[in-house]
Amino acid sequence: MFNQFILKQPKQLKIKLKEPFLDQKPGTSGLRKSSKQFEVPNYLESFIESIFQTLPNVKGGTLILGGDGRYGNLRAIQIIIRIAAAHGVTRIITTLNGILSTPAASNLIREKQAIGGIILSASHNPGGKNGDFGIKLNGSNGGPANEMLTNEIYNCSKNLKEYKIIDKVEISLNTKATFSIGDLNVEVIDGVDDYLSLMQAIFDFDQIRSLINDQFPIAFDALNAVTGPYAKRLLEELIGSPSGTVRNAIPKEDFGGIHPDPNLTYAHELADALLNGSDYSFGAACDGDGDRNMILGQKCFVNPSDSLAVLAANAELIPAYRNGLLGVARSMPTSSAVDVVAKKLGINCYETPTGWKYFGNLLDAGKITICGEESFGTGSNHIREKDGLWAVLFWLQILSVKRCSVLDLMLDHWSTFGRNYYSRHDYESISLEKANELYQRLELILPTLSNQPFAGQNVCSADNFSYTDPIDSSIAKNQGLRIILDDASRVIVRLSGTGTQGATLRIYYEKFEPANGNLNQDPQQVLASLINAMDELGEITKRTGMDSPTVIT
Ligand code: G1P
Ligand code: ZN
Repeated sequence: MFNQFILKQPKQLKIKLKEPFLDQKPGTSGLRKSSKQFEVPNYLESFIESIFQTLPNVKGGTLILGGDGRYGNLRAIQIIIRIAAAHGVTRIITTLNGILSTPAASNLIREKQAIGGIILSASHNPGGKNGDFGIKLNGSNGGPANEMLTNEIYNCSKNLKEYKIIDKVEISLNTKATFSIGDLNVEVIDGVDDYLSLMQAIFDFDQIRSLINDQFPIAFDALNAVTGPYAKRLLEELIGSPSGTVRNAIPKEDFGGIHPDPNLTYAHELADALLNGSDYSFGAACDGDGDRNMILGQKCFVNPSDSLAVLAANAELIPAYRNGLLGVARSMPTSSAVDVVAKKLGINCYETPTGWKYFGNLLDAGKITICGEESFGTGSNHIREKDGLWAVLFWLQILSVKRCSVLDLMLDHWSTFGRNYYSRHDYESISLEKANELYQRLELILPTLSNQPFAGQNVCSADNFSYTDPIDSSIAKNQGLRIILDDASRVIVRLSGTGTQGATLRIYYEKFEPANGNLNQDPQQVLASLINAMDELGEITKRTGMDSPTVIT
């Protein structure tokens, strides 16, 4: 039994706001700003008030609450509990030290039949006093709040005159306990337990353990963020990989100064070790809140688009997917590698706009089992978020059956399905004005490109991607500029919706090589003609003032 504390009946307060809370609309990943902005008096409070005024079934409802451990988490949890109490929430499930990964939160929302969850994270953005903070709202299905709800919250926040909050109470998050505050019960649980049970229901841990016992050394980098405690229990305790397998395992408020984004630039220590031929057979890393993953083998980086295709192609090796897949989905800029697999499997492959929320309807309607994005996100219908450690276990399970190196697995995959050479080039922190000018100019040029030469090919079509949801028929327009060539090569241009400094321009390149072609080339070389043609057409170097991208994936 947990410790039980009964706190005195709280006083209800109404705090008047001097000016209405005006802010930009929360994006696909919630409200993401500098930590300093969130410390401006009443800023966080106003957003939370808007959530509780808008979210359905708040009175008498259950709420899941936690975050990735970054600076600001603990303060936010205390404030959210007090505002929730004032709005009649009767049960809040929060976690030891406030540690709760995004996938684990999604699972808890579904398991506890909560009205939703509030996840405190700015995902892969740096944390700390001078870093970023964020608030994500997930709905009762466990997935990111849909556009209708985020619009309502935004409209509410614009006219907010006051917020409701109960008098100060202090909930200790150091030990498992329950607290009664008037009609509200706050439970502090271990945020790792339920997630572990879920993973045990999906994978065969005995089989993975036998791989590890068989001289298959692995390394995992938690980047001082939320996945440390999860990975320790999964990889070291359950699978039996030696202590120390999980690096940077203790969540720190500023992530130890690390940028918690699992890619070749920011998780370079691990990447260098694997790519330079250390003793590890497998390496992986997750981002700040645990929904992204990077997979590495000895001298092999697995492109996330390829990773999605490999998971789909080998799904029957996983107990939970033994009976096959309902369908798969990928975001539009993700390479078509998974489409090729879907075609062979005879299942549907859906193409959605960027952002996990677009998979929600397809998952809820039973149209897809597995989905993913090129941005290091993969997941399945086990929850409604992408799931970093799930992907790591999925890979380990495949390898425990195939008993080969990651590189051999990739070569084998390509020689069956062909290879979609792929790369994403990011130009970070460019001025908003310059980025918008570049983008708008390109958009204007698009209609003139059809049938024109581009990178030694013909342009087959060029448009701004628009998506009609097959379930609710809602339409999402302007989701990215696409140039598709006669040989199905693609160049996609988008402006990021998640950055907090200036604008980030993303350009995605893809070219298909058939199964009998040259499968082990450097993607940058294979894609060079597309990259050069795009630089010329979009005046990328000239307009960004950058000779090369900030991040190449
Ligand atoms: C980025 C990724 C996108 C992902 C989102 C949230 O968004 O590109 O795939 O869903 O982060 O993790 P962007 O900054 O490109 O708008
Ligand atoms: Zn994330």
